[in-house]
Amino acid sequence: MINPQVFVSRRIFPEALDLLSQVAEVEVWPEELPPNAGELENKIANADGVLTTIMDRVDAPLLAKAPRLKVISQLAVGLDNVDVAEASRRGILVGYTPGILSKATADVGFALLLSAARRIGESERWVRAGGWEMSFHPMYWLGAEVNGATLGIVGLGQIGLEMAKRGLGFDMRVIYHSRTRKLELEERYGLEYVAPQVLLSESDFVSLHVPLTPETRHFIGEQELRMMKSTAILINLARGPVVDAKALYTALNEKWIQAAALDVTDPEPISPDDPLLTLSNLVISPHIGSASVTTRKEMCMMAARNLVAGLKGERLENCANPELYPSKGL
Ligand code: NAP
Ligand code: GLV
Repeated sequence: MINPQVFVSRRIFPEALDLLSQVAEVEVWPEELPPNAGELENKIANADGVLTTIMDRVDAPLLAKAPRLKVISQLAVGLDNVDVAEASRRGILVGYTPGILSKATADVGFALLLSAARRIGESERWVRAGGWEMSFHPMYWLGAEVNGATLGIVGLGQIGLEMAKRGLGFDMRVIYHSRTRKLELEERYGLEYVAPQVLLSESDFVSLHVPLTPETRHFIGEQELRMMKSTAILINLARGPVVDAKALYTALNEKWIQAAALDVTDPEPISPDDPLLTLSNLVISPHIGSASVTTRKEMCMMAARNLVAGLKGERLENCANPELYPSKGL
C-alpha cells in the first residue's frame, strides 16, 4: 500500500518528523521563509495531510486545490489563518495545539508587562548608548508599580487565566471581560467580571487574550484607547489586528496612555520603518509567546500526533471541528 503524503510547511523538531515518517511520506519545506501561496498550493495538491503554522493562509481557494486532503494540523492554538468552516464543508479535520502553550505564552505576557511598567527595554537602550553617568538618582527611570495595580484581562480563556494567575502572584487586583462569564473561576481566584468599558477605565494594565475573529478585529481602537487611564499600559499577546495600529500609534505618541507592550503586530512582521518603532514607550517582541524549547517541542509532538491520528482515521487529540466525527464513524 502507498503511504499517505504529508507536507510540513516549516522546519520542526526532528522527533515530531520521526513520528510522521512512521506512517507517511513526509516533505518538509526547507527554506527559512515560508512557502508563498502558489508554493503552498503546489505542495498540498497531492497531500493527504499538511502541518501548518500561522503564516500559512489555508483558505477556501487553497482547499479547492487539495482534493486528497484529510487533515490539517496547525502548530498553534490560534486558527485565524485557517478557514475551519470550509475545511468542515469538505470533510477535512483540523487539529491544533491548545493548552500546552498557555503557561509559556503567559510568561512572555508578564515579562512584557513588567518590562513596560519598569521601563526595562528603554533603560537598557539608554545604558548601551552610554547614558548611565551616575550610579543612582532618586528621580531617574521611575516606572509604574505592579504590586497592588489592577490587571484587566480581555478573553478569560486558557492564556488569559494563566496571565490572571501571574497577576495574582504579584498581588494585583484582577478584573476580566470575556464572551462568557466564569463564575467558578471568579470564586476560585477572586476575579471580578466587568463590562468592557469598566475594564478599560479601571485597569492599570489591559491584557488582550481573545482569538482574532470578525468580532475582535480592532477590539481596541481610538474610542477604547481614549477610555483608558493616561497611566495605563496595553499588552497585546493575542493577534496584531485585535488592536488598531494607527490609533495605538497616536495614543502612545500623544500620551493618551502610558505605554504598550506587543508580542504581535499588524502587519506581521512589522516593517522596520513602522512609526510605532520610533516610540520609546513601546516594548515589542517578535511573536515569541510559546517559544520555549519545552513548549515548542510539545507543540510539534502534539501537531504530529494530530496529523497521524487524522491520517489513520482516528480522533484527533485536539480537533477544531469535531462535529465531523459522526460522518466519519468516529
Ligand atoms: P482560548 O482558551 O480559546 O481563549 C480565548 C478566550 O477569548 C475565550 O475565553 C473566549 O470565549 C474569549 N473570547 C472569544 N471571543 C471573544 C469576544 N468577542 N469577546 C470577549 N471574549 C472573547 O484561547 P487561548 O489558548 O487562551 O489563546 C487565545 C489567543 O492567543 C489565540 O487565539 C491566539 O490568537 C493567541 N496566542 C498568541 C500567542 C503568542 O505567541 N503571542 C500564543 C498562543 C496564542 P469565552 O469567554 O466564551 O470562553
Ligand atoms: C501562536 O500565536 C498560537 O496561536 O499558538
